[in-house]
Amino acid sequence: MFKAIAFDLDGVITDTANYHYLAWKALGDDLGIPFDRQFNEQLKGISRMASLEKILELGKRTADFSNEQKLALAAKKNTHYLTLIKTISPADILPGISSLLNELKEANIQMVIASASKNAPTILAGLGIQDYFDAIIDPDSLTSGKPDPEIFSQSAQVLGLTPNELIGIEDSEAGIQSINAANMFSVGVGEATSMKLADSRVDSTAELTLDFLKQVFI
Ligand code: BG6
Ligand code: MG
Repeated sequence: MFKAIAFDLDGVITDTANYHYLAWKALGDDLGIPFDRQFNEQLKGISRMASLEKILELGKRTADFSNEQKLALAAKKNTHYLTLIKTISPADILPGISSLLNELKEANIQMVIASASKNAPTILAGLGIQDYFDAIIDPDSLTSGKPDPEIFSQSAQVLGLTPNELIGIEDSEAGIQSINAANMFSVGVGEATSMKLADSRVDSTAELTLDFLKQVFI
């Protein structure tokens, strides 16, 4: 039986993945680098600066901007993103997640947030669920982001557990790779095409119950 769950935030606990997409897309359009939701799959799970680099690479514009200008572009995206999530509330928790958090708490299963987002504490406060979590990994403390295993390895470490005692839940390809590389059991939320490396997969967070996790965990 697993002892803890390491949750991704954006796209697993709340649908902020869509707001990240809208904010990046607006920046891409401004720069004359249009892209679609399929390209956006590559931006999920990776850091703000890594996302910007991927968009600039797509438009072959990497060399056009200094580091300072890149920081300004990333800040512009984040300002837009913050306006999109300004009214975030408990109503924005994805289906099934509130009951899962309650089931886990009751079963004394620890919970940790393993998100690349520097906005995670703000979002958890807006959703009103910060008290469920035993730890929130600070992305600034990491040497390498997803798909590197560091964030999930650190999730196990802060709880005093080994990775094989945890389940990691993710909606991004980079995130599933990160969980797997940490030797943790991975559960993917999303379509089979982007979740093909996950040990187990659901279409919707509504399927994530304690019983389901007990059944699939090996
Ligand atoms: C991840 C998202 O959770 O956080 C990415 O999947 C996002 O899309 C990344 O770029 C960083 O988020 P933030 O809030 O620090 O810009
Ligand atoms: Mg995500």
